[in-house]
Amino acid sequence: MTDITIQTQAALAAIAAADSLDALEALRLDTLGKKGWVSLALKTLGGMSPDERTAAAPAIQSARAAIAEALDAKKAALETAELDARLARETVDLTLPAQAAPKGSVHPVSQVMDELAEIFADLGFAVATGPEIEDDWHNFTALNMDETHPARAMHDTFYFPDKTSEGREVLLRTHTSPVQIRSMLAQGAPIRIIAPGRVYRSDSDATHTPMFHQVEGLVIDKDIHLGHLKWTLETFFKAFFEREDIVLRLRPSYFPFTEPSVEVDVGYSNEGGRRVVGGHGDAPGHAWMEIGGSGMVNARVLEFVGLDPAEYQGFAFGLGIDRIAMLKYGMNDLRAFFDGDGRWLAHYGFSPFDQPTLSVGVGAKA
Ligand code: DAH
Repeated sequence: MTDITIQTQAALAAIAAADSLDALEALRLDTLGKKGWVSLALKTLGGMSPDERTAAAPAIQSARAAIAEALDAKKAALETAELDARLARETVDLTLPAQAAPKGSVHPVSQVMDELAEIFADLGFAVATGPEIEDDWHNFTALNMDETHPARAMHDTFYFPDKTSEGREVLLRTHTSPVQIRSMLAQGAPIRIIAPGRVYRSDSDATHTPMFHQVEGLVIDKDIHLGHLKWTLETFFKAFFEREDIVLRLRPSYFPFTEPSVEVDVGYSNEGGRRVVGGHGDAPGHAWMEIGGSGMVNARVLEFVGLDPAEYQGFAFGLGIDRIAMLKYGMNDLRAFFDGDGRWLAHYGFSPFDQPTLSVGVGAKA
């Protein structure tokens, strides 16, 4: 046997015995590497006469081919073995309790919606819902805004190109007020509901996003008056902000679907650059902030849903959920609500186990 044959057999045996990718790489450098013996042997061919080269070349070439093939095969085998070992090592124990690694959190908007439902349920209100894709009859006409009403233009409505089978415009609801209409049509009077949900307007800056959240309130019964409205809102805000010194101011305003209409202001003070709800807005260091619209349901609206205004009347209100969430939990940029940033959610989010209840508290944070 020639030297090359002996050397090749030794190399092939070593490759077969290699037990790691590192050991295999060392063998590759020893043989096919720049200074490996196969490479050096190939180099000697250049200095040979043509006859010598013809005699020596085949043995070196086939040694190189055999070693290269053995290296490739062994590398593939070692990689497969390593992957198998990793798969065996990195098993997931599905029997571990989920609490071991809590990841998700409840968005403050969802939490506040749960708080609203809890507080209003205690006052005898049911939670009603309606579609986010509405038609203009429910969103506008039945709320006393006919086609020519200027308030329609004020809503920056997103319209769809198609119409309903009745020929109505299709749109993304601009407020939760159409749920008033749907609820009264479905169940008549008396009625006591809140309707939290998403609403849409073509508007976007630091304090406006194209999608935001409102909660609608509606009470229709016999002998309902503005005093009931003020008491209800006051009672709600005291429970929501968990303080007794909530002072509301009702200011005359205009909405097509209420008559009379009022805007609701709440007294607050500035503490460390943050608005803190509480106290009389005219007291020193205090001011008023608008937090919603409301009023006595317009008789025209009652007629649209087939109720007799001589028999029934009631009040309605609409509040911005994002706004009251910011006031309660201290965020200052509305847009961050909808960025889906994990750090923001980890900071402002709630534990799924922290269900708001009147007994434990509607603001308790785990
Ligand atoms: N729908 C009104 C808006 O989005 C808010 C509102 C005002 C709702 C007065 C009401 C109400 O129910 O009575 O601007």
